[in-house]
Formats: sequence, C-alpha cells, structure tokens
Amino acid sequence: MLKATGKIDIPDGRVMLVDVLRDQFGLTGTKVGCGVGQCGACTVIMNGEPVTSCTVLAEKAEGSEVLTIEGLAKRGQLHPIQEAFIKAGAVQCGFCTPGLIMRLYALFSKNPDADETSIKDALGKHICRCTGYESILEAALLAQKELKTLV
Ligand code: FES
Ligand code: FES
Repeated sequence: MLKATGKIDIPDGRVMLVDVLRDQFGLTGTKVGCGVGQCGACTVIMNGEPVTSCTVLAEKAEGSEVLTIEGLAKRGQLHPIQEAFIKAGAVQCGFCTPGLIMRLYALFSKNPDADETSIKDALGKHICRCTGYESILEAALLAQKELKTLV
C-alpha cells in the first residue's frame, strides 16, 4: 500500500495518477493501454475503490491510499487471485492482467460472495486482446473459491 501523503512532484500540465505511479514511484506493474478510461489496464485501488488511474489527476490522489499490483504478494507469496490466473491459464502477454486482478481484489474484498453476473460486470470493464474471456472468468471463480477457504 502506497500512501501518497508527500507532495507529489507535478510538472507543468496535467499529470495523471498512473504517470506518478510508473514514473515517480517505479511501479510499472500498472499498465497504460488506452489512456482514456476504456481498457482497464491501469486499474488500481484508491481508498478502497477501483479506479482507472489514467483518468485520476495526480493531485486528486494526494493523501489517498493507493494499492497497486506490487502490493498484493506478501513475503514472496503471490496473492490467491494471482495464483488463480496462473492456474487457469488466464495470462498470455499479461498486459491486461494487473488491472483485472486489482478489479477482482476490490470486488472480492467488498463482496466475497459476488455472483457470476457481478463478476462478469467487473470483468466487462477490461479489455484483453489475447486470452478470450473464458479463462479469465475461470480464474476469477477459482480465486473466489480459494479466498473463501482463507476466511
Ligand atoms: S489505460 Fe487507463 S483505462 Fe485504459
Ligand atoms: S493477456 Fe494479453 S491483453 Fe490480456
């Protein structure tokens, strides 16, 4: 979890949260696809809510808690959602994967019993050019099952 409490160095012009994460903090796990809020690749969690970080002005994020994909693994152990993507073969080029995982993390944190429609709605906010969505849905359902065994 990154707490963006310090003064973010914002050069002239519009700087978005994704640019600060990648360029100032070196958190390049967050990807930039469309840059206009359509593909979901840049999704991170800000104050508990998933946001497309390409559409959030960096100055709006000051003082917020921002969780990126880098914050999910603990003590060298991948998060169960990350493990599920591997097990289900839901990763090819991996460009869309961090955003999808952060979206599912937010969903399951709020609603561990999310039904399949809610899961599909969440996944529908993301574009994957490689895998087709069946393996991604499979990964989401597997992750949900795994997470329930941990509570
Ligand atoms: S890069 Fe942000 S939604 Fe596509
Ligand atoms: S795995 Fe390549 S875009 Fe989704």
